[in-house]
Amino acid sequence: MEVIIQPDAHSASVLAARHIAAILRRQPTATLGLATGSSPLALYAELIRLHREEGLSFQHVTTFNLDEYLGLPPSHSSSYHTFMWQNLFRHINVNPARVFIPSGKVEASDLDKYCARYEEEIRKAGGIDLQVLGIGGNGHIGFNEPGSSLSSRTRIKTLAPQTMEDNRRHFDANDPVPLHVITMGIGTILEAGEICLLGFGEKKAQAVAAAVEGPLSSYVPASALQLHQKAVVYLDEAAASHLHHSEYYHWVHRNKPDEH
Ligand code: GLP
Repeated sequence: MEVIIQPDAHSASVLAARHIAAILRRQPTATLGLATGSSPLALYAELIRLHREEGLSFQHVTTFNLDEYLGLPPSHSSSYHTFMWQNLFRHINVNPARVFIPSGKVEASDLDKYCARYEEEIRKAGGIDLQVLGIGGNGHIGFNEPGSSLSSRTRIKTLAPQTMEDNRRHFDANDPVPLHVITMGIGTILEAGEICLLGFGEKKAQAVAAAVEGPLSSYVPASALQLHQKAVVYLDEAAASHLHHSEYYHWVHRNKPDEH
């Protein structure tokens, strides 16, 4: 795992956006795995800026989102469909036919088939070239809560009480946070060619330290990234504050060999 620590979320997100832009310029038909939540907001803002000001094109890009709340129609104000269109898709030239987000309105009896089809679509697109991830306060990635199988695939999950509490702020006061979700599995995520995890703020410090420096454990789903050959973790100082080896990560970052 490569750990990049920047003074703030904005500068870390700009670095991550530059990396994604380099991939898209090299490979305009790349497939991106995308995440929701507050963590990728600055990254998306920078991608939008690169599109508007520097001509970065998403015309031939395919995107797959990690997850969605079950029970929410795409038009719901707290759905991840709404989040993605508001915060990224409507500001760039992505082809709506190449945007994949799990549906929140799948009948229970169709779920297994639906999830298998989502995996099939990823395969048909040639796999995910780069997957963007946030990290939950309890170490989850996507909605793979603690205890998720490290080889899990897209499926239904029950949210942990802490996640429901953490995500309550994204819902109207009288709107309940859904209990069930569809999420790509940890096995699905690990098949991406590259992974870019964003972690910002003191609230993430413990989960980040457990994921990066703790033992590999299904109780810290993000620790599964230790198995990945190209996982980069972008942090601000606050999220890095519980790491024991920050100096070393800075050293490696300063002395990185030139890319070839
Ligand atoms: C949700 C999403 C995750 C995200 C997490 C952290 O649970 N399903 O993909 O990483 O929230 O959210 P935030 O970035 O808002 O802290």
